[in-house]
Amino acid sequence: MNENHELRCVGCARVIAPEALGGNFRCEQCGELYEVEYPGWHGPRQTRPNPSALRWLWRERRSSLAVADRSGVWRFREMLPILNSLGNSSKGTHSRGGDSPGHDSRGDDSGSRGSESGQSHSADSRGGDSFSNDSYSNIVSLGEGNTPLHDLPQSGRRLKLSRLLAKHQGMNPTGSFKDTGMTAAISVARERDAAWVACASTGNTSAAMAAYAARAGMRSLVLIPEGEIAWGKLSQAMDYGALTIQLRTDFDGCVRVLREVVERAPVYLLNSVNPYRLEGQKTSAFEIAEQMEWQVPDHVIVPGGNLANSSALGKGFLEMKQLGLTASAPRISVIQAEGADPLVRSFREFGAEKLEPVRAETRASAIRIGAPASWRKAVRVIQETGGWVEEVSEAEIAVAKAEIGAEGIGCEPASAVTLAGLKKLVAQGKIRGEESVVLILTGHTLKDPDYTIKYHRGELLTEAEETGLEAEIEGTRRNAVLMDASADEVLRELERLAG
Ligand code: F0G
Repeated sequence: MNENHELRCVGCARVIAPEALGGNFRCEQCGELYEVEYPGWHGPRQTRPNPSALRWLWRERRSSLAVADRSGVWRFREMLPILNSLGNSSKGTHSRGGDSPGHDSRGDDSGSRGSESGQSHSADSRGGDSFSNDSYSNIVSLGEGNTPLHDLPQSGRRLKLSRLLAKHQGMNPTGSFKDTGMTAAISVARERDAAWVACASTGNTSAAMAAYAARAGMRSLVLIPEGEIAWGKLSQAMDYGALTIQLRTDFDGCVRVLREVVERAPVYLLNSVNPYRLEGQKTSAFEIAEQMEWQVPDHVIVPGGNLANSSALGKGFLEMKQLGLTASAPRISVIQAEGADPLVRSFREFGAEKLEPVRAETRASAIRIGAPASWRKAVRVIQETGGWVEEVSEAEIAVAKAEIGAEGIGCEPASAVTLAGLKKLVAQGKIRGEESVVLILTGHTLKDPDYTIKYHRGELLTEAEETGLEAEIEGTRRNAVLMDASADEVLRELERLAG
């Protein structure tokens, strides 16, 4: 029994114990999703984690060799006490009413003490990297998180923004932010002795789940829409040994089938309706704050698909504010592709009170989602932080992706909606030059090389799609040049470009 957390329904506010959570992760009363809550954080100050101690401890752990410390998710474990085995690992970071927080944590944090004493952390009998120590035996980690926060000087100059940054979640072990959620949820699954785990996916979730399940010694089932996910991702699921099933439907159809499978078989569901995924994903908010010396940016811009990541980031930023780790929370804005924009329509047509599913169509396959499960959570985050929703066209996404590539960073198409959306928010005067902005780049550029090559060859977009953006497209296109094996020819090309 885990006494550190409980689950609150985002629809009817019903609170349940973790053990009462059904296999479909939905509220029995109203059908909505749950989110993890930590009752201790609402109590007197003495029972809450101490901000200064935590900041010190989290940075200190980066120099540890222990797996749970090296992980960019479990490094922040005081903020996600979701494992029974972690027990009260945040004990030493609680304020004792006195005002020497840093000192508090040095002496007796059980988490850091384990690693400081050079504890071994070999793989345990069920596979996967973990501490041999009981406290950490359920953590399944591939060294996720701790991703870079880059500046984007060229785009920043073009948009006249003094501080434009990109948090590159594509630098996670399987190439997307999904790893940060998967380490959390697979660790919970392991603690509950799950033999089979499953997800429906547009690509990244399948790769992440397959990898973490393999590390944990679990079997995994992946349902993907036939012909609609990038090859790089399909290949990962196969390589990591998942049972990979391509269904003749779209992502939303895969979700429907999986819902029934989970009802009829003992399979642990790892789609983002699983609230523990979001606990892992929220840690990138902590990383951003840490990387900015605990001064959060004015704006964070996130791609919107199933709408779990925007919800998770919002939860992370709002929890930091609640605990006094940061003074404020950024405005969180969500960008969708025009052809997969149910959230934008919900705001426009129904004041975000209801969401009507759409038939999703966009080349940004990761966010080709028409019936987002976590839309209520995302609406709350956008409204609570004062953010916006916006949609961008196929050509705007392609140009933005090429611009991010030209900064030497690169990302997958779905991630590029952030820069495309930012341009619109700046043009509308919603984001001003002196404000700081962080774009969440959710996936790696190598996920979808077909898309990139087609763009640079001029084969991606139709003429109609290019209309109005011809100059931007011309300026960002860099097709490979074919020539005979002659230094003269290569040098002529160099001269042509220099002149
Ligand atoms: N960016 C990338 C690269 C993604 O893979 C996804 C979602 C999103 C953004 C949207 O995040 O769904 O939390 O709003 N990918 C899913 C998958 C659903 O199956 O990999 P979201």
